[in-house]
Amino acid sequence: MGLYHLAIGLVSFLSMVSGAMTIGANWGTQASHPLDPAIVVRLLRENGIQKVKLFDADYDTLKALGKSGIEVMVGIPNDMLATLATSMKAAEKWVSVNVSTHVTKNNVNIRYVAVGNEPFLQTYNGSFLRATFPALQNVQAALVKAGLGRTVSVTVPQNADVYESSSGLPSDGDFRADIRDLMLTIVKFLNDATAPFTVNIYPFISLYTDSNFPVDYAFFDGNANPVNDGGASYYNMFDANYDTLVHALQKNGFANLPIIVGEIGWPTDGDRNANIEYARRFNQGFMSHISSGKGTPMRPNTGINAFLFSLIDEDAKSIDPGNFERHWGIFTFDGIPKYALNLGTTNAGTLIPAKGVQYQGRKWCVMKQSAKLDDPQVAPSVSYACGLGDCTSLGYGTSCGDLNAWGNISYAFNSYFQMQDQHDDACKFPNLSTITKTDPSTSTCRFEIMIQPYYGGAAETLGRAKKALGLVAGLILFFLTIV
Ligand SMILES: *[C@@H]1O[C@H](CO)[C@@H](O)[C@H](O)[C@H]1NC(C)=O
Ligand SMILES: *[C@@H]1O[C@H](CO)[C@@H](O)[C@H](O)[C@H]1NC(C)=O
Ligand SMILES: *[C@@H]1O[C@H](CO)[C@@H](O)[C@H](O)[C@H]1NC(C)=O
Ligand SMILES: *[C@@H]1O[C@H](CO)[C@@H](O)[C@H](O)[C@H]1NC(C)=O
Repeated sequence: MGLYHLAIGLVSFLSMVSGAMTIGANWGTQASHPLDPAIVVRLLRENGIQKVKLFDADYDTLKALGKSGIEVMVGIPNDMLATLATSMKAAEKWVSVNVSTHVTKNNVNIRYVAVGNEPFLQTYNGSFLRATFPALQNVQAALVKAGLGRTVSVTVPQNADVYESSSGLPSDGDFRADIRDLMLTIVKFLNDATAPFTVNIYPFISLYTDSNFPVDYAFFDGNANPVNDGGASYYNMFDANYDTLVHALQKNGFANLPIIVGEIGWPTDGDRNANIEYARRFNQGFMSHISSGKGTPMRPNTGINAFLFSLIDEDAKSIDPGNFERHWGIFTFDGIPKYALNLGTTNAGTLIPAKGVQYQGRKWCVMKQSAKLDDPQVAPSVSYACGLGDCTSLGYGTSCGDLNAWGNISYAFNSYFQMQDQHDDACKFPNLSTITKTDPSTSTCRFEIMIQPYYGGAAETLGRAKKALGLVAGLILFFLTIV
């Protein structure tokens, strides 16, 4: 253990005795209308979120994090793994552009590089099995070569099914048979590099995929029937899952490898189990669990290093896994807290909304009162609107699941209209739609208005230039007209 690690250890020890909570958040940007990164960084700071995990290395996002002190895990998307695996030059270039520059020029506190994201997920059919380890080796070598070997660690965020337990008990945990050798190679490499194992744990998915899953066991209230594992009692799925990994590591000779929980959370919409009540119960329970400092039965009295999934909703995420996929945020897409959540990081004791968010006009596209529900144009119009808009809040048990047919159709029209930045042509469903200034929202169902589009640093300058040009052209036209 070097002096640096001792110092870091001291800092974590001090923050533990002083009782200050440390929590991270995942900041994804697959949104039709992402927030300005500067607004998000302020949101993170005001809510006392000290660590952030990114899925790529977007320049503006990283630059906005500069001088904030917030610890950053930057991500390498899976589709870059093959290139980085086969070319050391590419890995050096990636580290130079996406890490070194930001650390030295922009003062970004980059601490981890996530090489790939859940690359061994079974739905990928093994596409990334070969590239992940060599990419990990090359990125690590490139970090060392860039002089960042001591401050920046590599890791590979894994889905929790890279390990399993034949009996279901944590003590029978081991790496999944078909990828066991590969996992052990990666784990040994991480161990040698004093790098952490990162895992994403999702009790929600267990409940979603298995209707017999005991609901209380997904949460942290201690209401579930405990699972007894050789004297150790498990009252929640999180602890059992985490300890299955600890057993798998221990069994293979890596008992002390640090673990980061890369993603943990609960969605609020898009499924009957995805709602505000469950999300609050889960996330508040998790925060209390980690702030207690109790750890898990296998790693008692050990801090749990975790990143909530996620910070803000992303309305452009693929819904292949399910409609809930666009609703994981503790904040809505525009930075409004969805429910009272005490992270234990601020004196406010609850989430603080984003500041300085600019909205588009207060108008909505709805179905005309005079239009007929059985108009043959309704079905194709709704299906077009939902295809390009976002209808994941419609359906059984969702926030807009109680709308009547008129509300349903209007919701679809409005979603498309707002996604198209309220362009007049986007509310021209044949004889069916009209623009209104009356908010059609109900107590549970929000008919959203999008925020002003963010064009990014470089594009912003371009936008300003275009606007200025437009103004000049307008003025010329004006003079021509009056002359
Ligand atoms: C840096 O990261 C971005 C975003 O992930 C990526 O598009 C780009 O190719 C990377 N740059 C290099 C030189 O690899
Ligand atoms: C994986 O294989 C299945 C069945 O062969 C196929 O439907 C699916 O598209 C494949 N997925 C990927 C990511 O290649
Ligand atoms: C509303 O739309 C959803 C999904 O698009 C559909 O399942 C439901 O039956 C509709 N409800 C009404 C009252 O039309
Ligand atoms: C709209 O309604 C008018 C009057 O009822 C009708 O003449 C016209 O054909 C309709 N247009 C479409 C596209 O359905």
